[in-house]
Amino acid sequence: HEVDWDVSMVDKGGYSHFMLKEINEQGAVVRSSLKGRIEGGRVDLSDELQWTAETVASWRSLHIVACGTSYYASLVAERALSRWTDLDVRVDIASEYRHRTVRTDAKTLAVFVSQSGETADTIAAQRVARGLGAHCLAITNVRGSTLAREVHDTLLLKAGPEIGVAATKTFMGQMSVLYLLALYLGRLRGGITAAEESRLVEELNQLPYKVEATVAREESLSELARIYAERRDFLFLGRGYSFPVALEGALKLKEISYVHAEGYAAGEMKHGPIALLDEKVPVITVIPRDSLYEKTLSNILEAKARKSPIIALGTDGDDLLKSYADHIITVPWTDEAFTPFLTVIPLQLFAYHVAKRRGCDIDKPRNLAKSVTVE
Ligand code: G6P
Repeated sequence: HEVDWDVSMVDKGGYSHFMLKEINEQGAVVRSSLKGRIEGGRVDLSDELQWTAETVASWRSLHIVACGTSYYASLVAERALSRWTDLDVRVDIASEYRHRTVRTDAKTLAVFVSQSGETADTIAAQRVARGLGAHCLAITNVRGSTLAREVHDTLLLKAGPEIGVAATKTFMGQMSVLYLLALYLGRLRGGITAAEESRLVEELNQLPYKVEATVAREESLSELARIYAERRDFLFLGRGYSFPVALEGALKLKEISYVHAEGYAAGEMKHGPIALLDEKVPVITVIPRDSLYEKTLSNILEAKARKSPIIALGTDGDDLLKSYADHIITVPWTDEAFTPFLTVIPLQLFAYHVAKRRGCDIDKPRNLAKSVTVE
């Protein structure tokens, strides 16, 4: 395949693992994904997507299909796309989408999100959607990958090579590109006001700095890992934009530390996982200052009543959390829609430091492959 990087980029650059290097590259990844795609304060993807006004107006639904971490990036974007566009948005796991009845037709824009562009289920799902007449768009890090060659249109992540098997910086790149798509579609279809668009674009432009500031807080996660590395089970909770972040945080811990972790919608905890809670099971709650903040606080209280150690991942300056949580990790403020770009970082770093303490093979975890080219 053609690549957009050279061999010199494929060394650890002084970091002990590729994963840590890639976590540290995330500010740069957001910056490079925005480059050339924002013009005069507005998102403009017309160089890459030659869509006519007629085509864009013909779509009724938007399907996003992916696997693993790419699926979680898609779940984050689902929330933004539903808010900023008038499309009927749904997100599916590729291995499910391809085998079940989904109403896909010429009025569907189908987006396939795959870092490698080689995941067998995602490629097969694209073929199904295309066969049913959908307009297919790939969001991938690899130009010339199988997926990129088969779709109508491609948006590249421009994240550079990701060597660590557990995806980190490409999650960030995927969210960036999906958000650009959301703002672009919102504008083209009139789902978003000009004032709202410029406010969001401004905040998007600030993100690389906020991402960098968050990564720089690594030390507190190393300390948290020291305290909790020997625990056997973790519960990760979040609502709204923070729900997929909880899923991704749990996935990272499973993948590289081999520690059992469940990600759950905070409001769903009482329907099952609460039965698992006691003083042995830490609960990591993703709780930025957003519209669902109070509701998630009540879930913290429920977990606390079962004596679970509470780790709250919130927003800078949120002193209220102190009376609820045993440990508080904070990230800079950003608009609710962008909080996943920041809140995911401490969870990546936590998984990294737990894995390191447990002596795991961080860049090449057992039983996992960087891209899964079989069904
Ligand atoms: C594997 C990798 C994951 C990745 C998933 C999807 O499971 O270990 O890190 O998220 O595949 O890969 P893709 O290349 O399609 O994004």
